[in-house]
Amino acid sequence: MIRHGFVFAVVVALSAGMAGNASAAGKAGDVAKGKEAFEQCAICHNVDNDEKKMGPSLKGLFKRKTLQSGKPVNDANVMMQINNGGNGMPAYADMLSKDDKENILAYLHTL
Ligand code: HEC
Repeated sequence: MIRHGFVFAVVVALSAGMAGNASAAGKAGDVAKGKEAFEQCAICHNVDNDEKKMGPSLKGLFKRKTLQSGKPVNDANVMMQINNGGNGMPAYADMLSKDDKENILAYLHTL
């Protein structure tokens, strides 16, 4: 919940025209851009209902305790899943830029 507020604050700051400070302000991704980049993930992942597609629904991902793998849900483990894929999910380590991945992570926090 705290992080939601933080991401929201960053987005507000950005839209308020403080974009110049954005890179200095930290690494929080851009939710709107993350949502766009997530389109390629949405083929396999629902975000607005719990139904499984090719992959599990990511609705409420960061409200869960564990991933399918049994690892705790946190930025590092979710980023690892994105980078490494596995079990039917492509590895995005080289397919997405670091920015894209951070934006997607920020977006996933809003689900
Ligand atoms: C071709 C289908 C496919 C695409 C495209 C895909 N995934 Fe997945 N994803 C999967 C499958 C299948 C799993 C389940 C893997 C497992 O059980 O270990 C998964 C698992 C995950 C998980 C872990 C969910 C959990 O509850 O454990 C996350 C997070 C995730 N994907 C994010 C993404 C993101 C972000 C993208 C886009 C950059 C993406 N996926 C693209 C198929 C896909």
